[in-house]
Amino acid sequence: MWPYPKILAHRGAGIFAPENTLAAMRHAFTHGYRGVEFDVMLSRDAVPVLMHDPAFGRTIAGAGNVADHSATELEGMDAGSWMGPTFADEPVPTFEAVAQFCRAHAIWMNVEIKPAPGFDSLTGAVVAEAARRLFVSPEDAVADGAVVPLLSSFSVAALLAARSAAPDVPRAYLVDKLPEDWQSNCEAVAAFSVHLNQKHLTRDTVDCLRHAGYGVFCYTVNDPERGRRLLDWGVDGFCTDRLDLIGPDF
Ligand code: G3P
Ligand code: MG
Repeated sequence: MWPYPKILAHRGAGIFAPENTLAAMRHAFTHGYRGVEFDVMLSRDAVPVLMHDPAFGRTIAGAGNVADHSATELEGMDAGSWMGPTFADEPVPTFEAVAQFCRAHAIWMNVEIKPAPGFDSLTGAVVAEAARRLFVSPEDAVADGAVVPLLSSFSVAALLAARSAAPDVPRAYLVDKLPEDWQSNCEAVAAFSVHLNQKHLTRDTVDCLRHAGYGVFCYTVNDPERGRRLLDWGVDGFCTDRLDLIGPDF
């Protein structure tokens, strides 16, 4: 059974606020979403921050690599202007800041571990440990009804390290298309669910995964008709960029 929200705002707010920023989380919350997906990478000093691309140039102007900058440096960078002047100076947030915001607003998180090249295990371990510290350990977590995030990754090495560091934080095996060795990978990382690209997803794959006992989630669904079909097939949930077309109660 999928105990989480069905519809998640991809990268925080899809195409309506700069991805992977607090502005995006605020946008999702204001528009009624109680679930978000976002990407987390490590800074040079091994602090998890929200970021999709390992290199600057798209959401952060200029040249350089995320892994070569400290969290303090990244927090001083403008991750919003690329989307328009309204978002100028929106900083790169730390995972901790976003997790605190989401927890305070009862927004559930699918945290995608997005390691910079060469940092798979370290990123998996650090993100999982941070999630455990923020959501599993605190005595107030149960009282607050805090719901532990689900960690997903395309990197099996990151998921294995996450499992070792914080076995009680659930994990999802994230793939474009289901590969031959999916079952052994799911078992190795003790996956709760499998997350797949909706483009390649078929009803047979959904049946197969459900039969094997896994939750089934897909990315990124921007066409309501396709979303309806996937849910009819038994997909548990999906993330979307089109918050204007697919509402939180879709
Ligand atoms: O977690 C699902 C989805 O976000 C994976 O693709 O590139 O948008 O992070 P991407
Ligand atoms: Mg992602």
